[in-house]
Parts: sequence; structure tokens; C-alpha cells
Amino acid sequence: MAQKAVVRGCGSFLPEKVMTNAELATMVDTSDEWIRERTGIRERHIAGDDEKTSDLAAAAARAALAAAGMDANDIDLIVVATTTPDLTFPSTAAIVQAKLGIESGAAFDIQAVCTGFIYALSTAEKFLSSGQHKRALVIGAETFSRILNWEDRTTCVLFGDGAGAFVLEAQDESEANGRGVMNSYLRCDGRLVDLLYVDGGVSSTQSTGHVRMQGNKVFREAVNRISQAMEHVVDEAGIDVGDIDWFVPHQANERIINGVVKKLDLRPDQVISTIAGQGNTSAASIPLAYCAGVADGRIKNGDLVLIEGMGGGLTWGAALLRA
Ligand code: UT7
Repeated sequence: MAQKAVVRGCGSFLPEKVMTNAELATMVDTSDEWIRERTGIRERHIAGDDEKTSDLAAAAARAALAAAGMDANDIDLIVVATTTPDLTFPSTAAIVQAKLGIESGAAFDIQAVCTGFIYALSTAEKFLSSGQHKRALVIGAETFSRILNWEDRTTCVLFGDGAGAFVLEAQDESEANGRGVMNSYLRCDGRLVDLLYVDGGVSSTQSTGHVRMQGNKVFREAVNRISQAMEHVVDEAGIDVGDIDWFVPHQANERIINGVVKKLDLRPDQVISTIAGQGNTSAASIPLAYCAGVADGRIKNGDLVLIEGMGGGLTWGAALLRA
């Protein structure tokens, strides 16, 4: 019988250290006003020297397990979306598995930069709906601050660190009662690598490198591609955009989010936004925002939620789920 992948709980973690726009203005030629007006960001969290991506991911995973009322050993699949792994190998997912004390099941990372959580959720959903695995931790976790050039004002003001996690459980359709991931849409256009990339890597420079972005070119691509992905999942599900309860976007830029809201005729009060306090946390931003919406009581079981992401690659995508 077909299985649905139901979100049983979500959790998040943000490093304690906060960096304000004012602090950034002492480091590079920028201002609080410019950052707020162009992006909507006021501050972001930055991982401490001893905090690795796997630490953030494990903390978010523990919170998600607590919300789901499950033990770590109920999990038989861990998928971590990250661009900032602890090590070149093994995967951050393997390290998270050990930190959680899980001794069986599968664990691997997914790399689709800021679209990573959509790719990871879609992948985990396939593993659960096929019956191969029963319960998955899907985590978006980043220490993006580690790959920023802190002298480049065009990138260092945009990003932050954090992690968010979902516990997904395979349930029979009768048990799921309409809940679960409904569908997803994943895309990549590798011809656009140069718009957003890191100028280092194992096979090229044997170094980590720093983020390089042609921001205004990415911006110009964003609203149309994101809207098209959202329209695709909505059409495929046979519903109307107006049926959506909540829109949980990747938090790259408030102006991109507003553009999508306008284009698709959504209401601003349907948007779950965390950008002001967190900046762009890449693969972590969607689960962080989703968890914020659950924590403050906006997203309730049974609500229809549309999520989307876009990032380096270029990659982009969307998914529809009933909370
Ligand atoms: O999550 C992955 C996907 N990433 C995105 O979706 C990011 C997409 N891009 C953006 O969000 C925006 O393009 C940015 C926020 C990065 C930049 O905003 P913009 O309105 O596109 O500005 P711009 O790049 O066209 O730059 C406008 C001006 C330039 O100065 P001139 O050439 O007009 O004199 C920049 O040098 O703003 C300048 N500038 C800054 N000024 C103060 C760029 N960065 C800064 C800064 N502070 N931090």
C-alpha cells in the first residue's frame, strides 16, 4: 500500500552568537540601512569556533525528535542537506548519526546549496513512500560563515548559521489522514554555475574557498524560477494557490519573497519569514522558518504548506505538504 511521509515533528537550533548589521558596518563599507532596505536582514547567528555543522544539526535533530515524541533509535534514515560539511568525508549525516547514538540505518548528505532542504525532503520522501525506510531525520544545517570572505560586502552581510530538522514517518494513507509530503519539483541549470559558487574545492584548489555571487543576476533569475516551481507543485496536486495556508520560502531576500507573493497573489500574512533575525542560512532556512511557524502556533496539523528554495547551481525547487 502507498505510504505517505508525514512530518511528525520539527526542531531547530541557532548558535548563541548574534552579529548585527551595525557590527558588520565596522568591518566592511556597508550600513544597517543598506542591508535592511536591500535584503530585510537585521542580524544573523554565527557559529562559535568550536561549533561544527554536525553540532548544529544534532541539536536541531534532538529538538525534532522531542517534538515527535521519538527516540533517536526510532530513526533508520538521516539525510543532511549542507554546503558546509564538517569534513570532506565522511558525510555530516554519518557524524550526526554517531552524535545521536544511532547504530543502524542509512545516512548521507545532499548538496544543492540553498535548495538543499527541498532536495533532501524530496529524496527522503521517496525512501519512505517506497517502504525502504520507516522514519527519517531530514536536516538542513550550515556554518555558512566559514565560507564567507569577511572583506566582501556583497556577500558577507547576507548569510548566517543555523540548523532545522524534520522527523518524517512513513504511514499508510489511512493512518496519515491526508497529512504528509504531497509532491515536489526539483530543477538545476548547471550552465549558471558562475552566478553563485565557491572559488575552491577538493579537486580544484584543495582548499575550501569563499562564496562568490553575482547577486543582481541571481536576483533577476529568482522570482520567475521560484514562482514557476511553486505553480508546478500546486497544479500537479490539482489545487489552487489560494488553497495554501502557509508559504515557507527560502530566506534569501525579503524583496524576492515579496516578489513571489505578489506574482502568485498570495497574502503577505501567509508568509513565514525569519530573514530579519537569521539572514540567509542556506539549506537550513526552510526548516528554521517552518519550525518558527509551528512553534508560534501558526502552522497546525492539517494545514497546507508550500515551501520553495533557490541557490547555487543554479538549483531551485518547491514542495507541497500537509502539516
Ligand atoms: O540563497 C541563494 C540565492 N541568493 C540570492 O537569492 C541572492 C540574490 N541577490 C540579492 O539578494 C541581491 O542582489 C543583493 C542583496 C545581493 C544585492 O542587492 P541589489 O539590489 O541587487 O544590489 P546590487 O548588487 O545591484 O548593488 C547595488 C549597489 C552597488 O553599488 P553601485 O555599483 O551601484 O555603486 C554595490 O556595490 O550596492 C552596492 N553594495 C553595497 N552597498 C552597501 C553591494 N553590497 C553592499 C553592501 N553595503 N553590503
